[in-house]
Amino acid sequence: MAGPAGRNGRAQQAKAHEAILRSRNVPSLTEPARIGSVEVRNRLYRAPLLEVAANKPDAARILERELVPSAASGMGLVFQGASLVTPEGGRTAPGLSRVHDRGFVLSLKPAVEAVQRHGAKLFLQLGHGALQCMETWHAQYRAEHPGLVTWAVSEPPAWFRALLRARFLRIEHLRVFGEEDLVQLARAFGRAAGHAAEAGYDGLHLAGANASIFQQLWSPVFNRRTDGFGGRSVEERGRFLRLVVQEMRRAAPRLPVCAKVPAETEAPWFVRNALSVQDGVRIARIMEDAGVDAVAPVRIGVLRDQSVARGSFPKRAWDDLRFQSGYARAFGSQRKARLVRLANAYAARRIPFQPAWNASFCKAVKREVGVPVLCEGGVRSRAQMDALLRDGACDLAGMARPLYAEPWLARRILRSDAEALCQACNNCTIPQVNGLPGVCRTPDVLAARGALEQQGAYEP
Ligand SMILES: Cc1cc2nc3c(=O)[nH]c(=O)nc-3n(C[C@H](O)[C@H](O)[C@H](O)COP(=O)(O)O)c2cc1C
Ligand code: SF4
Repeated sequence: MAGPAGRNGRAQQAKAHEAILRSRNVPSLTEPARIGSVEVRNRLYRAPLLEVAANKPDAARILERELVPSAASGMGLVFQGASLVTPEGGRTAPGLSRVHDRGFVLSLKPAVEAVQRHGAKLFLQLGHGALQCMETWHAQYRAEHPGLVTWAVSEPPAWFRALLRARFLRIEHLRVFGEEDLVQLARAFGRAAGHAAEAGYDGLHLAGANASIFQQLWSPVFNRRTDGFGGRSVEERGRFLRLVVQEMRRAAPRLPVCAKVPAETEAPWFVRNALSVQDGVRIARIMEDAGVDAVAPVRIGVLRDQSVARGSFPKRAWDDLRFQSGYARAFGSQRKARLVRLANAYAARRIPFQPAWNASFCKAVKREVGVPVLCEGGVRSRAQMDALLRDGACDLAGMARPLYAEPWLARRILRSDAEALCQACNNCTIPQVNGLPGVCRTPDVLAARGALEQQGAYEP
């Protein structure tokens, strides 16, 4: 580990590197950027990540604890994780907050103000999981919410129905959104946006990929509608997004809107018509035309697999005796938990970690749109971020899991050519099916963080 002298040397090198970038007109990570009407003080952001605040009475305190370290350590932009716009249904993971309720959103003001006091901008991500919601895969949640309707954009595709028949997934009450249901859902996005504006958020983010209703509507795999929300081209399937942006603009005219852009490049072999990178680029253009102020292109699968957060198989988390009964409850039995474990092992081999795995997709999008492009997914070091900015792959660079490992990581990254400690082992993600908080659960990494803390690496 570098001592203070080594750190000073690297900080000076980073400053010299920044001066060179500036002289070549290439934006450096520490330079401000603009998203819509909002200026962010630098180009480093916290990607949306589960805070497990739900709608607990102390949700504001939890959010403050989760988000303030990113802001206080210097990040320009902080995205709060996905929050649901409806009073029920659509929940994709335990611990997601619902933001349909104005009173609840206003109660989050202290957390919003705490983030802003440290100079960062805070954007709230809004979403709905439709067919990919918890009641299809989480047995305990389903049992605790009997009668819950699972909404789908069309009848599920054949391979999804096969998973239902094999009882790997389950749906008690399926309903396909009618046109009026989708119009009402778009209004719910607008109302939630209005609450966010009142609570003082600086902007909004749409959970546009990662198993959300937006991805399901863009994707010909899920969207086989023949009405005004379907069609053969992504342009035709973009009506819901346009409607949502319109509703959000009406309710929160001052707040810029970001959105994730999906390309389903990691769909398994039996899914033939998934969204390609070219489709993703067209979706980004449609978003820009609809008034979206920044886009975050992500390459993912069609099921909720490891493509969202690529990494190694989290054996340690699966083997941890403290979590076994929770896994059995979440997946329905010990046998099913073992099956999910196997599927997870397969997914980890099939979709391995790659440094900055969305970079080429981001670059393809950046060539076609004028709004800022956000790049996340396996982004780990200052050198890599500088290279992404220099190569025209993006305008801002973000990280998610590394912040579980080092909540104050931005301090190191902004100061010098540092690299995140996170090993993308995903030991933090699996226990979250039991509703546990997102914290790093890998001892080597925690020990390395402890050593850096002792050296003052996270000090101002
Ligand atoms: C536990 C967890 C929760 C996440 N929650 C969200 C979310 O709410 N909304 C979203 O768009 N992406 C979510 N993501 C995806 C991240 O924003 C990010 O794209 C992904 O983790 C890859 O970045 P990383 O390699 O820096 O972790 C989540 C990822 C993880 C691991
Ligand atoms: S457990 Fe720690 S090292 Fe592993 S992915 Fe999560 S944060 Fe990173």
